[in-house]
Amino acid sequence: MKKQQIVVSKDLEAALNEALATCDYDKLFILTDEVTVLLCYPLIEKVASEKKAEVITIASGDIHKDIISATQIWKYLSAHGATRKSLLVNLGGGMVTDMGGFIASTFKRGLPYMNIPTTLLGAVDAAVGGKTGINFNGLKNEVGVFNPSEVVLIDSTFFKSLDDRNLRSGYAEMLKHGLISNEKNWIDLLSFDLENVDYDKLQDLLVTSVKIKEDVVTEDPYEKGIRKALNLGHTVGHAFESFSFEKDEPILHGYAVAYGLICELYLSSVITGFPVDKLRQTVRFIREQYGIYPITCKDYEKLYEWMKHDKKNESGVINFTLLSDIGQIKINQTADQQLIFEMLDFYQDN
Ligand code: GLY
Repeated sequence: MKKQQIVVSKDLEAALNEALATCDYDKLFILTDEVTVLLCYPLIEKVASEKKAEVITIASGDIHKDIISATQIWKYLSAHGATRKSLLVNLGGGMVTDMGGFIASTFKRGLPYMNIPTTLLGAVDAAVGGKTGINFNGLKNEVGVFNPSEVVLIDSTFFKSLDDRNLRSGYAEMLKHGLISNEKNWIDLLSFDLENVDYDKLQDLLVTSVKIKEDVVTEDPYEKGIRKALNLGHTVGHAFESFSFEKDEPILHGYAVAYGLICELYLSSVITGFPVDKLRQTVRFIREQYGIYPITCKDYEKLYEWMKHDKKNESGVINFTLLSDIGQIKINQTADQQLIFEMLDFYQDN
């Protein structure tokens, strides 16, 4: 898989002009949603109008990351003369970059694209690494391809309009990257003040975080092995997320991942010897910053069912990525029902 160019900008217009100059294109299209067209597009509007970009706006929210929106975008590109040499710039969170990447990968069998993530979660995860896709048949990211963008342009100016919860949601993926990398990154993340955000410092932490993901993806772009490290916290996290949606009390993805990290580090301490003091330290930080999503013992069966249906499983066996220490990754681990219920006891009691 070709390598993405990651541009970290301090001056958005200049960085965008430079990034566009590295791409050879005949026409420029910018994909936005109803929110980013109002909040984020104005920050790049000057450059966009100089380059005569056409702006496409779709309905916002993961519920619209579907074949209906995809068809609208394909039709728009067709009607407005997009060719294989046109460039699609995806300006938005994970929903826009996932779907825009999929559209760019399939329209006329593929045209180049650029991601400009406007959420912290998007910048640290979805926009980087070449996973594209849409939801289909009630299943998340059921249809898609691996195909990296030419450029990912990251500018923390966008994150200033994020509310506290969305900022924390993205930060949870950074915590995950800290846990799978090394002690220093991990300590830096735990000492960042999420109450009074220093955006320059956040951008520095983000650069390190994106680099961690980039290195993992370079080693294993198609998730045959070590890319599964990026699933830490997600087997249980996705179960919490799906459960919360079913109960009509949705939690943000990053919050679900943070709760998943508590659970999967508990499993790590039992199965792969993750140090108990570091488990306690992580639990303390996550409880302070993310609170708790309340569950009871009556929910265990349901959560277990969601874990069994995780698409990362093979042959019906629940697949976990665990750690034996910070940065010591153990992929393809499993646990039986009794241990998973014990893990949920730990989650409730700590
Ligand atoms: N979101 C995890 C990955 O890109 O593999």
